[in-house]
Amino acid sequence: MATAEQIKALIRAHFSEDKERFITTALQLAAHEAKRGHFSLAHEIRNLIDRAKKTPPKIFPARSEIENLVLYVEPKARLNALVVDSHINKRLKQITKEYWQQDKLKRHGLTNRRKILLVGPPGTGKTLTAEVLAGELRLPLYVILMDRLITKFMGETAAKLRKIFDLMTEYPGVYFFDEFDAIATDRASENDVGEMRRVLNSFLQFIEWDKSNSIIVAATNNPQMLDKAIFRRFDDILYYRLPTEQEIKQLIRNCLGTFKSKKLSFKELLQEAKSLSQAEITEACKEAIKICILENRKTVTTALLKNILQERRKVYEKLIVSKKKE
Ligand SMILES: Nc1ncnc2c1ncn2[C@@H]1O[C@H](COP(=O)(O)OP(=O)(O)OP(=O)(O)O)[C@@H](O)[C@H]1O
Ligand SMILES: [Mg+2]
Repeated sequence: MATAEQIKALIRAHFSEDKERFITTALQLAAHEAKRGHFSLAHEIRNLIDRAKKTPPKIFPARSEIENLVLYVEPKARLNALVVDSHINKRLKQITKEYWQQDKLKRHGLTNRRKILLVGPPGTGKTLTAEVLAGELRLPLYVILMDRLITKFMGETAAKLRKIFDLMTEYPGVYFFDEFDAIATDRASENDVGEMRRVLNSFLQFIEWDKSNSIIVAATNNPQMLDKAIFRRFDDILYYRLPTEQEIKQLIRNCLGTFKSKKLSFKELLQEAKSLSQAEITEACKEAIKICILENRKTVTTALLKNILQERRKVYEKLIVSKKKE
């Protein structure tokens, strides 16, 4: 039987709504029972905890009008899939830590950080980060469909935005505003009838007053376009950039997995991967793996991957040249 102390600890955790402590105490109880030879009881307790942990959060009802505004994505990625610098890694761990212990923070009048702005060039992992956060927090990922949100009719965009913020309370999840500059452009640079200014003002108000349990993630490639008032509304601003040599190696290793040849020369590959984004390097590795599979080869060689990276770089360089000419 459980000790009196364990029962009291469970009751205390329940009434203080400390989910983490409740789970820890219940697991201690299971260990205690297992030690005393009550294996099936211990097993049953662990199963109950596992099942409760896996209870999926409420998801939008199918085919509701909300579906026109927000896309539900089942998050599959976890933190170890993301190759980022130690600063971003630490911030993301802090966000998850504060989320899991939000009750503890609330007791001291504090809230967990849950409004995050991701800034950086294309293909550096911003969308993947939104997915990783949802995966780590076991929350659904809701991608805001910007083209449906923004309409040219007066007031309509702000009304839709309000609907999304209402949803955040009812359906906890990670709400992802991609291409965020579309609604958060500098108010001073506005030259139309002021509709976008109104949208931005609404967003600023909604985000400031939002008290939901949802995580708000916004991403942009154009931070210079954002209105200055936006920045202080976020708890964290994370800056993404092209990968370092160390990160390129890690990306290639992660992506090739068992297809990586033992003799792979990173020195040669680094030359070709320089200035490519994480997304392009990942795609190149996937392309190399496909060739291996179709040609019944076991591993990706340096020559094969080098060729693919080279081709990608050429396309990329051509794009830059033609952009400069424009
Ligand atoms: N930092 C990273 N670590 C690991 N994989 C990455 C990273 N960045 C990109 N990738 C790979 O590239 C894919 C595309 O990246 P992602 O969509 O996250 O880029 P993004 O920064 O959102 O780009 P965009 O600004 O164009 O929307 C990811 O699904 C992943 O496979
Ligand atoms: Mg993206």
